[in-house]
Amino acid sequence: MHGVIFSSLRDYVTAEYGDDAATRLLAGEPVYLLSESYPDEGLARLIGRAAELTGRDVDDVVHGFGVFTAETTFTRLYPAFFAISASAREFLLTVETRIHELVRATIPNARPPQLTVSGLGDDGVDIVYTSPRRLCVLLRGLVQGTARHYGEDAAIEEETCMRRGDDRCRFSVRLTPASSAPGRAS
Ligand code: HEM
Repeated sequence: MHGVIFSSLRDYVTAEYGDDAATRLLAGEPVYLLSESYPDEGLARLIGRAAELTGRDVDDVVHGFGVFTAETTFTRLYPAFFAISASAREFLLTVETRIHELVRATIPNARPPQLTVSGLGDDGVDIVYTSPRRLCVLLRGLVQGTARHYGEDAAIEEETCMRRGDDRCRFSVRLTPASSAPGRAS
């Protein structure tokens, strides 16, 4: 997995729990560079350690990390990708053809997953995900973080899931303007 993802995990733990927690998380780890790629096992190990350090469930950490990566890391590193779309729906419809394809061509050793995204009614998208990494919880977080960037909420249904034995994960996503009511879905 690419260094940008490791660096985002460090930033996420720093933002949520402070510098000391991030230092404990990365104790004994190599320095993760934005120009390099690292074995996937390293990310799984760090996520497990983050869950231990914070007393949270692994899936909960992965989801929060996904939200943070889209809303904070990607928007900071790649603002132009977000600026060309006016809404989360428009962004998600082109994430594969405009972004992941470009990432594969320009960032050495990055292998983002092949996503198939199509429109679902006027306010939604359908996403099919087949990566052997089976990071569907991360994907849900990335979708929610993208929605937040555009001031929207995403209601995400996972209709089929590789973790439940299906051959692919299929999500239906409905996007609405973010509600200002307290306790909105995250
Ligand atoms: C500007 C926006 C985005 C950029 C620049 C970007 C780029 C990347 C990069 C560099 C990776 C690491 C791949 C690797 O190291 O092999 C990645 C992974 C991933 N991306 Fe994106 N991405 C973006 C948005 C999204 C969005 C909105 C979604 C969900 C719809 C998404 C879904 C994923 C998933 C699930 C992974 C984990 C790898 C896997 O499952 O195989 N990405 N992306």
